[in-house]
Amino acid sequence: MTKKKIAITSDHAGFYLKEKLFKYLVSKKYEVRDLGSKTDEVSDYPDYGHALADAVASGEYDLGITICGTGNGMNMVVNKHQGIRGALCWNEEMSRLARAHNDANICALPGRFISESEAYLIVKTFVETSFEGGRHTPRIGKIPIVKY
Ligand code: RB5
Repeated sequence: MTKKKIAITSDHAGFYLKEKLFKYLVSKKYEVRDLGSKTDEVSDYPDYGHALADAVASGEYDLGITICGTGNGMNMVVNKHQGIRGALCWNEEMSRLARAHNDANICALPGRFISESEAYLIVKTFVETSFEGGRHTPRIGKIPIVKY
């Protein structure tokens, strides 16, 4: 099976963790693209959140990983995009359920509230867990707002 293509972003608050997660995913042989930030200079999380959401919504990347201080800002931004199901994941079980039940395609991590080892576990679980389908399929089908 082809390895998933993964895009990753952060703002300044997630920068150092993003650098580590990028290397971790590369070491696991995923095709990974770092869309910034490129330094720990103070930045605005929407600039990186929208870029990530575009990369995933377009189909260019299968999954996205994003880190800011709380994870909330990035998660709010990515969920403005049609086709994106962003999930705030602060532990392994949240990450597993986000994929298995919600078919989440972007994982938002709270960089200031999790350890490095927790982050690896959350990301590993996110990229390795499959959507269960079944009863969850019609539910995720009802997420988009459809105007008649
Ligand atoms: C930056 O200080 C912080 O506000 C940001 O990383 C994020 O937590 C916003 O949701």
